[in-house]
Amino acid sequence: MSSSTKINTDSGLTPPSAGGGASLLIKNGRIITASEDHIADIFIEGEKIKAIGRDLQVEADNTIDAAGMLVFPGGIDPHVHLDMPFMGTYSSDNYETGTRAALFGGTTTVIDFILQKQGASLQSALDEWRSRANGNAIGDYSFHMAVTDFNENTKKEIKHFVEEEGITSFKTFMAYKGALMIDDRQMIGLMEEVKAQGGMVTVHATNGDMIDYLIEKHRSEGKLSPLYHYLAQPEVTEAEASERFADMAHYTGCPGYIVHLTCEGALNAVRNATRRNQNVLVETCIQYLLIDASLYEREDGAKWVMSPPLREKKDQETLWAGINQGLVKVVATDHCPFQWEQKLMGKDDFSKIPNGHPAIEHRMELLYSEGVHKGKITLNKFVEVACTNPAKIFGMFPKKGTIGIGSDADLVIFDPYEKHTISASTHHMNVDYSAYEGWEVTGKVKTVLLRGKVAITDNKCILDKGYGQFIKRSKVDGKI
Ligand code: URP
Ligand code: ZN
Ligand code: ZN
Repeated sequence: MSSSTKINTDSGLTPPSAGGGASLLIKNGRIITASEDHIADIFIEGEKIKAIGRDLQVEADNTIDAAGMLVFPGGIDPHVHLDMPFMGTYSSDNYETGTRAALFGGTTTVIDFILQKQGASLQSALDEWRSRANGNAIGDYSFHMAVTDFNENTKKEIKHFVEEEGITSFKTFMAYKGALMIDDRQMIGLMEEVKAQGGMVTVHATNGDMIDYLIEKHRSEGKLSPLYHYLAQPEVTEAEASERFADMAHYTGCPGYIVHLTCEGALNAVRNATRRNQNVLVETCIQYLLIDASLYEREDGAKWVMSPPLREKKDQETLWAGINQGLVKVVATDHCPFQWEQKLMGKDDFSKIPNGHPAIEHRMELLYSEGVHKGKITLNKFVEVACTNPAKIFGMFPKKGTIGIGSDADLVIFDPYEKHTISASTHHMNVDYSAYEGWEVTGKVKTVLLRGKVAITDNKCILDKGYGQFIKRSKVDGKI
């Protein structure tokens, strides 16, 4: 740890304050929010930020000197899959390993996806996911509820999820037929009910029937390598579904959010929707900004088999522009890791490769290095898409996603100049390869606080499993 972020626990220098739980003073950091950039001190008492200002005259139990460092709000990754049953196996990070890795990378809150089993209730799926998360998470977390079977019974459960459980976003899949996909009739019904209850519908927007047709076509022609995973999901499958989703959201008036949008065609569909005064929110993921489909031609191309697949370089430029134009609101990960041995389930057939890649740990550092450091986005935009917008869109703001008085003291102290190299040999995710092996990044997460407690310092996680809290979310209206 650099001396500039050393925690001073010398109570002779910093006598304890009276009452309110342990206190901490972060001195002289350069505070970056979605709209501010200034040098100041932050005083924390218990779990909350109590004061922000220059040369605060307060007594604190501990101090951190953050001179020369950036101070961001804790990152929020609203798209992760931890311990998820999928394609005949489970994603390899559980709540402990996944949220720990997230903390190492400056992400203090994640939103995971509960998957309803077709034919079963939403409540039974919630119970199952709770049993995996409760007592295991180190970082804070919430759930989206993925509705894979919308019917009269499911419809009755929506109100309870929004009002009582604090789960206000409902995920849908327009692909993965027979497992997760719902048809347009169910989509419209769900949207009407979710709108009535004050929630939002989110979507994996690709045309499942077209994709299934293309998968079978390639398989029947003996085209079985990872490249055909990519070729089975052309841009049009995503553009078509994105436009259809935007139209259905507009027709029903339901707030809509497209997850993991990857390409120019789909973003243009959303842009055209905005010209019709339709409103649909867009998330992309770090991988779609940085890496491209040429990786599928490699021997180990299965490492990057995910849905939608990686796209072309021209799509990366479109997505960066979309961020700056305010059309792409969020940069998430869709973290869904599998060990190489699990990926080998599809060594003879691309359609059997478990879909997903690991990124929860490096979203913030990659976005900073490739985005801010290389001049593609501003510091404020970085915070907006990685921290603030996810909190606003999903009903956690201002508790999460910003640095303000009364907000949770979820903070990242970041060295903007430190260079380091990403590698499976040093990362903390439970996966035996890195999708970014050997990438040199500029900027490093040094210290992370979660609800006032130091989580990461000196390259160690010092919080135990069970510290992570389930975050109940407010009703949402799709406006930020
Ligand atoms: O390949 C992916 N994206 N795996 C996770 C499931 C999903 O579609 O988000
Ligand atoms: Zn998806
Ligand atoms: Zn996903």
